[in-house]
Amino acid sequence: MLRFDIISIFPDYFSALFEFGIVRRARAGGLVEINAHDLRDWTQNNHRAVDDRPFGGGDGMVLKPEPLFAAVESLTGAQQASELKDRARVVLLSPQGRVFNQKLAVELSQAEQVVLICGRYEGVDERVAEHLVSDEISIGDYVLSGGEAAAAVLVDAIVRLLPGALGSETSAVNESFSEGLLDYPHYTRPPEFRGRRVPEVLLGGNHAEIEAWRRRAALKNTKRNRPDLLARTVLSEAEKSWLDDEHD
Ligand SMILES: C[S@@+](CC[C@H](N)C(=O)[O-])C[C@H]1O[C@@H](n2cnc3c(N)ncnc32)[C@H](O)[C@@H]1O
Repeated sequence: MLRFDIISIFPDYFSALFEFGIVRRARAGGLVEINAHDLRDWTQNNHRAVDDRPFGGGDGMVLKPEPLFAAVESLTGAQQASELKDRARVVLLSPQGRVFNQKLAVELSQAEQVVLICGRYEGVDERVAEHLVSDEISIGDYVLSGGEAAAAVLVDAIVRLLPGALGSETSAVNESFSEGLLDYPHYTRPPEFRGRRVPEVLLGGNHAEIEAWRRRAALKNTKRNRPDLLARTVLSEAEKSWLDDEHD
């Protein structure tokens, strides 16, 4: 079973988040355990302060290292941060981290424990990034007010990859990014809606033709919206020449 431990100054943020759909089912089925912890539980001062002013001056406050080290060490059972490597993936959510993607989600889904540290204010004392965490991860090139929303994104993307989490074992295999491309378009009934028809090939029942149409549609989607992904995907010669001829 994969265990998530989320460290935040707003643990209540998560109280309803994991009560729905696939994540709720995965928890109920014993595939994953998700705990949200209050960073203030590891403070040792009367005011339970977790932040302080930045050395060198400047705006805002910075999360202090002591409660974060104590929290991670107690949640992982490590006596010291240096022992952590083999026990758990410890992730600092940060706009300065490497950008989260499906490959990283697959990698993290294979861990036994994932600790997610949510920053706030101006960020987190740099010694946390340098000496406590195994991964610094961003969910995109924008700045959030806190790491909680980013932690929720990671949990959702990782849980749906756990064996048995999805209704059909093959569902995750055909999704966007699983083969380096975006997904192909999906349609359901009715076959005609406001004058727009579902592509005829999908109504015909010829599986080889349907597969070929889906592959082409996925390539077309990817070329239009994420050409950067195409550059990293292995394509057949036929697909390359089809894409060269393709005009939107
Ligand atoms: C206001 S941000 C700090 C921004 C920091 N001063 C900077 O410019 O890089 C507060 C916290 O939100 C979280 N955060 C903000 N943007 C994020 C992103 N794109 N991905 C992951 N976490 C993010 C981090 O935990 C961060 O410590």
